[in-house]
Amino acid sequence: MQHKEEILLFLLFIQFALQSLAVISLENGGYKNIVVAIHKDVPEDEKLLTNLKELFTKASSYLNTTTNGQAYFKEIIIAIPSTWENKPQYEDVLKNYFPSADVRIDHPNPYHENDPYTLQPGGCGEHGQYIHITPHFVKELHGETADNYGPAERHIVHEWAHLRYGVFDEYGLPGDPNYPAFYLENGKIVPTSCIHRITGWIEALDGGPCSITADGTVSEDCRFIPNVQNEDAKASVMYLPYIPSITGFCDHTAERLHNARAPTKHNTLCWNQPTWTVITNHPDFSKRAKRATFITTKPIFRLVRAQKGTAGRYVLVLDVSGSMGGEPIKLLHRAARRFIEDRVPDGDQLGIVSFGSKADVLHNLTRISNTTRSQLSKALPTKDSGGSTAIGQGLIQAVKVLKSQGELAEGGLIILITDGEENVKPLIHKILPMLEKEKVVVNAIAFGSKASAKLEPLTKATGGKGFFFADIKGKQQTNALDSAFLDSVTSQADLEFQPVQILDGTIKLNSSITFKKIDLDKELGKNTVFTFTSKNIENVDIILKSPSGQVFNSSSSEYTKDALHKLRIAIKLSESETGRWTAIIRRSGSTDVAVSVSVISEPKDPRIQPVRVRSWLSNVQLKYPAHAKVYAEVKKGYDAVIGAKVKAMIDRPLGPPVEVFLKDNGAGPDGSENDGIYSGFFTQFNGNGRYAVVANVLNDGDAKLKIGSKASAALAATKFKNLKDREKKNATSTFQTSEFVLTNKTKKPTEPEGEPADVFERVSNAGAFRLDDFKANDEDIIPPSRVFDLKVLSSNELANKKFVTLKWTSPGDDVDVGNATSIDLRASVIAEDLLERFTALESFNKTSVVDGNFTPAPPGEMQVLSVEVPNTVWQKNSNNSAEHIDVYFALRIIDDNNNKGNVSNIASGHFGKLEFASSPIFMVKAAEKINWLPYIIGIGVASLIAIILIFILTVVYCKRRKTYKPET
Ligand SMILES: *[C@@H]1O[C@H](CO)[C@@H](O)[C@H](O)[C@H]1NC(C)=O
Ligand SMILES: *[C@@H]1O[C@H](CO)[C@@H](O)[C@H](O)[C@H]1NC(C)=O
Ligand SMILES: *[C@@H]1O[C@H](CO)[C@@H](O)[C@H](O)[C@H]1NC(C)=O
Ligand SMILES: *[C@@H]1O[C@H](CO)[C@@H](O)[C@H](O)[C@H]1NC(C)=O
Repeated sequence: MQHKEEILLFLLFIQFALQSLAVISLENGGYKNIVVAIHKDVPEDEKLLTNLKELFTKASSYLNTTTNGQAYFKEIIIAIPSTWENKPQYEDVLKNYFPSADVRIDHPNPYHENDPYTLQPGGCGEHGQYIHITPHFVKELHGETADNYGPAERHIVHEWAHLRYGVFDEYGLPGDPNYPAFYLENGKIVPTSCIHRITGWIEALDGGPCSITADGTVSEDCRFIPNVQNEDAKASVMYLPYIPSITGFCDHTAERLHNARAPTKHNTLCWNQPTWTVITNHPDFSKRAKRATFITTKPIFRLVRAQKGTAGRYVLVLDVSGSMGGEPIKLLHRAARRFIEDRVPDGDQLGIVSFGSKADVLHNLTRISNTTRSQLSKALPTKDSGGSTAIGQGLIQAVKVLKSQGELAEGGLIILITDGEENVKPLIHKILPMLEKEKVVVNAIAFGSKASAKLEPLTKATGGKGFFFADIKGKQQTNALDSAFLDSVTSQADLEFQPVQILDGTIKLNSSITFKKIDLDKELGKNTVFTFTSKNIENVDIILKSPSGQVFNSSSSEYTKDALHKLRIAIKLSESETGRWTAIIRRSGSTDVAVSVSVISEPKDPRIQPVRVRSWLSNVQLKYPAHAKVYAEVKKGYDAVIGAKVKAMIDRPLGPPVEVFLKDNGAGPDGSENDGIYSGFFTQFNGNGRYAVVANVLNDGDAKLKIGSKASAALAATKFKNLKDREKKNATSTFQTSEFVLTNKTKKPTEPEGEPADVFERVSNAGAFRLDDFKANDEDIIPPSRVFDLKVLSSNELANKKFVTLKWTSPGDDVDVGNATSIDLRASVIAEDLLERFTALESFNKTSVVDGNFTPAPPGEMQVLSVEVPNTVWQKNSNNSAEHIDVYFALRIIDDNNNKGNVSNIASGHFGKLEFASSPIFMVKAAEKINWLPYIIGIGVASLIAIILIFILTVVYCKRRKTYKPET
């Protein structure tokens, strides 16, 4: 019973944040609308298509098997690039599928080479970003791929589970400090796995025996080689999907019994719950009324090919209802005009619809050229229509506009801007099915704080993005509206051609002359546009100096000033120098003036990509108490940029914006260190309504470029060859430490740090989220965040007493802000106790502490604490044998209002003497090469260190005993 309660509790913690990226739908167990897009640089090859179909057909069947007949792939869109020859069987589309595809077929990310992987920076239950498969993997389906990976379709299901259900890898990696390939259990070495029973062999990379340090850390050249062909274990897809007997995910049944003790990423992030528990609680499964019934798992493939020169198609749907009267409509008009005249790329198509009590087509879809821009901007509404708010009708008209030339609406983007609540039929939810059927994407700009709360469901369902523009009275100078428009057009272009936003901010001119430095990195320099916007633009003048000293000013042909309609100065350079530019902003008159500055540029050569930033939110609809999670990906192609300064600026319903620093440190909100994805929590809510988020990224010299970027992959490249030799020994699922050679080499080679990156600056609009149910009480109800990097650094025994040193990254009072108050640390010899009855276990108190502080360190700091493990914990009966005692630890952090953070991951400490192979003579073949001296010295040094440690511990321990009197 207790167990059930805890599971229910855990389900409350996982956020099934259905992020708006994917618009995959589920119908009677069949997933539809899955997009597999081939990158345009992948050479044309018919075999790729044949093999993709085969791969996904088999994957669909395997997905059905692993979900007990509950899910399969029903409809898959294979998007063929326009660089391939057109064929009659390809459907012509006007959409660039690649940037938003669920599955990318693209040249390798150097970190993963040909291993399929999923970009999955989210938390438990969150959607991932995309699956990446290389053309080589697909083409070699029956060759190298089959040899190296086994049945490839199983890897697809593994990746799909990462992407769709937010479950994680259930294996460890050699040398990985967080998720090691082996761990100690009852004095035996166990391969890190979600299930206990998989058997196999171990050996070092050179074919010799594995080595181990005295504390039981297996050296990183040691591999577990599963007994692939003779295995009977049924789980798990997230561990070694290619083992033929594996037919499902780990669960609570005997056949697939989940191992909650293994230090896997899945256990760490998903509260040690079996993958199947997490999956069946995903809305795809939990919300389904009745079990799916389907007679075939064969997917239907739609082959679509973007026409050559496919460009964006947008319809602006503008609110002109009564409430827009006055300043709001003027503001909107100016921003829309700048958008049409300055921003929309040549060749894209644009239409305009307005709505008040009814909707009107103001301009049909028109291809943008220097002659049509002004024609389109003249059609923009200049005043309100005085009526009510017919959002639904506006959307219907927009779809008609997209289809007016006999084209499909699919691939079109509707940019909806509204300031109020809809009050004319049909309502948004009634026309949603039509929008989904037509496959149009809706981006919504909430104009002011009264904009409808129905915008988030609309953008989510159509795969669009929401933005928020607060300043509808035009009191502050901000670019937020321009930035939302820009983001919408950018997302439609091929990834390689999308413009990069270098700068987007507001400068207060409080003297007659202001200098602004602008760094243009060397990959950029095409179609560079410097824009300066201000209500008082007539009082502003700009001089721009290039890195070589060339000057652009009001007499240059590249310079335009519009002080009437657009209120901006723009300097457009089709080709520009790169390096440090200086803008000299001159103000006439004596009053302060605010100027918004925006700089965008495109890569000179699309084959040499600049650093790009993409930012997003894990959820766009929050209910208080909650925390928002912001992500920013900083990469150059697939290479990760690490060490950049990443800051999210968050505009709140009230008061000035707040800053949140995003980190790539593998703690707090960040699931994976140094992967180029930075994340942060936000909790400083101050009211119901929308919060707009913009990420600013800066390299002021510390950033480095790493080749490739790590993500979640299936453990793959185990070769099936050479199995005969191993069959001499029986396969087992645990290993005696006596099979290992003792080593003192614990240091793993440090990962290459990367090359210093060029100086750069970027801005990325993450969009907006909406918060409801905010309570403005003074009481703090937000708990500290969950610790998920708890580790046992060392465990020691002394005079029949047992000590451990623990380490973790400290959270804050509210998630990760402010100092928390206390540490609730508990332990048990039964790992499951910490999951199922944490609060029933005895809590450690100050008297157990032998070194370190028993109060939480400041947020983000590494905390190290040494404690004595009470006899009452380790003397308890358990599976532990007399010689080996495993003690498991977990903690939660509590704030000053007694809000308790979630229970951390579980860390284990081992007590007892480990036996090792008696002498390195065991190292058969390499014997003649052995130089004994380092071993002897090593063992000597290790013993000396141990003696010193024991001495120090004794001293510290005795001292503490004197200092801390047991509480009475
Ligand atoms: C789906 O899987 C279930 C369970 O393994 C099986 O009974 C069923 O026949 C499968 N359905 C199809 C259409 O293959
Ligand atoms: C848009 O096109 C439709 C059909 O082609 C036409 O009936 C309508 O008059 C056009 N509207 C405008 C504003 O040009
Ligand atoms: C429009 O563009 C064409 C070709 O790019 C150019 O020749 C022409 O001068 C432009 N017209 C105007 C009014 O800028
Ligand atoms: C392997 O297992 C078999 C059957 O359990 C046993 O008879 C045999 O002795 C084992 N061989 C080794 C080398 O352990």
